[in-house]
Amino acid sequence: MAQYKIAVVVGSLRKDSFNKKLALALAKLAPSDFLFEQVRIDDLPLYNQDDDGHPAEQVKRLKSHILESQGLLFVTPEYNRSMPGVLKNAIDHASRPYGQSAWAGKPAGVIGISVGAIGTALAQQHLRNVLAYLDVPVLGQPEAFVQAKEGVFNADGSAGDGIKKFLQGWMDAYVAFVKKPR
Ligand code: FNR
Repeated sequence: MAQYKIAVVVGSLRKDSFNKKLALALAKLAPSDFLFEQVRIDDLPLYNQDDDGHPAEQVKRLKSHILESQGLLFVTPEYNRSMPGVLKNAIDHASRPYGQSAWAGKPAGVIGISVGAIGTALAQQHLRNVLAYLDVPVLGQPEAFVQAKEGVFNADGSAGDGIKKFLQGWMDAYVAFVKKPR
């Protein structure tokens, strides 16, 4: 029985997204008391403050998913040296109405994969800024900037040999961070 439900927010809507694959590969490295579930963000309307008083069903669903979780995992690509708009849109939705943010206090991990060697570093840094404002404690170390290259994932979706040990270390630190009493 999972004691820690983790809401996974993937910053790419692409069918064959490397980041979605990374999220799934990471989940395989977690202990059995952790359950990772991807948050749906592809059907959210564009955030409009006029709708704060009557949020769409998809927005209510998003906020419930986050509120029911014990932790967050953001797995995001970098778009033009920042986070993708779809991710920021989801963050903005669940942060409102003012004073009713779903994010506050949920421990989070931030990680990403891109085709560039240091890709996602700037996206992650921008995301960390936003999460700091939203009162989300984020795992500081280790950082993880994964490069999408041959062999990074095995055919069964698990992490490839070249990166498995590193990702296991990251997951162990993340699990300890989520479990840390606050
Ligand atoms: C990119 N890509 C990219 N990569 C990077 O390392 N830094 C960047 O700033 C950008 N910028 C960027 C903008 C836009 C609009 C696109 C579509 C792509 C390339 C990106 O790493 C690559 O498309 C990944 O495959 C995206 O992640 P997913 O969709 O595979 O998870």
